[in-house]
Amino acid sequence: MMDEHRAHRAILAYEKAWLAFSLVMLFAFLALIGYTLVTHTSGVIPAGKLERVDPTKVRTEGPWADPAQAVVQTGPHQYTVHVLAFAFGYQPNPIEVPKGAEIVFKITSPDVIHGFYVEGTNLNVEVLPGEVSTVRYTFKKAGEYRIICNQYCGVGHQNMFGKIVVKE
Ligand code: CUA
Repeated sequence: MMDEHRAHRAILAYEKAWLAFSLVMLFAFLALIGYTLVTHTSGVIPAGKLERVDPTKVRTEGPWADPAQAVVQTGPHQYTVHVLAFAFGYQPNPIEVPKGAEIVFKITSPDVIHGFYVEGTNLNVEVLPGEVSTVRYTFKKAGEYRIICNQYCGVGHQNMFGKIVVKE
């Protein structure tokens, strides 16, 4: 009788310890979420600093509509590329840039959310209509890099590709 009582109390203490542990974890996770929200809110989406455009006009006016501004040299080793990610492709296509230069990609969408993932690199951003995602990259190797849309954007999503040609 006495032994059973003791065993029961031991189990109770064990359960309480686990309960306390899970409560501590819960607060730790909540604190982490709060910390992330406070410190990272600006800059998560979209990439780069906040820059807005009218998605209904990007195809007809401004740098995304002008083929002469698709790839612009902005410095001795710097280029800005205006990329349009649309259903279902990328413009310009292919994107031709030289090896070793800093490429600033300014990407936007005229329709829905797309992805801009460049195979073999760490370039991977969301592209939102009305917002400009800005990312920088320096290609160290010449060759062809495939651009893949990794955000589901409609019936043609799986066929949405682009190409970056990096020249010597
Ligand atoms: Cu564009 Cu998926």
